Amino acid sequence: MPVKVIASDNGLEAVRLAHDLIQQGEDTLEAVVRGVTLVEDDPNDLTVGYGGLPNEAGDVEVDAAVMHGPTHRAGGVAALKNIKHAARLAMKVMETTDHSLLAGDGALEFARTLGFPEENLLTEKARKIWLHWKRIRSRNDSWQAPKSEEDVDPEVLEFFRKRKLNYAGEPISEQNRPTGTIHCAGINSASDLSCVTTTSGLAFKVPGRVGDSPLIGAGLYVDNEIGSCGSTGRGEANIRDVCSFAGVELMRHGMSPLEAGRELLQRICRHTTEPRLLDGEGRPNFGVRFYLLAKSGEHAAVSMWGPTKYAFADENGARIEQCDYLFERQDKKRTGEHTDGTR
Ligand code: GLY
Repeated sequence: MPVKVIASDNGLEAVRLAHDLIQQGEDTLEAVVRGVTLVEDDPNDLTVGYGGLPNEAGDVEVDAAVMHGPTHRAGGVAALKNIKHAARLAMKVMETTDHSLLAGDGALEFARTLGFPEENLLTEKARKIWLHWKRIRSRNDSWQAPKSEEDVDPEVLEFFRKRKLNYAGEPISEQNRPTGTIHCAGINSASDLSCVTTTSGLAFKVPGRVGDSPLIGAGLYVDNEIGSCGSTGRGEANIRDVCSFAGVELMRHGMSPLEAGRELLQRICRHTTEPRLLDGEGRPNFGVRFYLLAKSGEHAAVSMWGPTKYAFADENGARIEQCDYLFERQDKKRTGEHTDGTR
């Protein structure tokens, strides 16, 4: 069985590193955690770890979880502040405690106990984007929107333009609200699997909000006999259908990774009924993606909206590939830009 590693599109270097480590004989979980640590360290990724966009109050709160196929053990941390390497801390929950998930102040205290460094995860760029969001989010509060584009920092302007928002702000809708995350899964030559998901979660969330990423069965799941599944995008939609667990179960009952992934997206479509979450044609107006890796080595990445991409590494190297998708955004047809608001 050739070594394979799959990740969200922000994980090109993560899959490259994890693939090399597994190829050298490293455990699959250690390898994928070291892969995503590169992204947690990257200030340019506004969706994960250091540099992630903050919650409503301006604090970066991160969520992460790991799952190790050979032992079927898991660990997670949620609503964690000031710790960059959340995926590694989630692995420590798995390795050093009898628990599966630590949250908030308890997770931070656990990190202190283990000697993890504490640092402010809010970068200057993320702070400026957050401040701009406060200024434009409502015309009924005391914050005033900028009077002209010239009053907006160019980095901030670029960020909001990419999401089709003007400088003075339309309210951020679910369609262009930044979520984002990295999921990464790997399989070795013995067909053992592991996976990890780590994120700063939904931008500008209510403090304490926990997304799908640290929840075993939602943000990720692996059964070493069957395969793995993980997610990025709107966590609230994924949590309600426990999609990563469901994806693995669908593969257990004979679906290919692609069939299983498409069925997960269809379930989310069927269960999304609130008008604020639907577009004019009754389709979910948000992004969500699944990354599936079967015990056989077959894999798929599926997205609610496309065209969009994912990262993959095998014996032919690390590369960016096109996801399968349910719906095509008309404005992205020609450019192939990423479309689910994650990156
Ligand atoms: N999938 C990331 C989140 O919703 O927090």
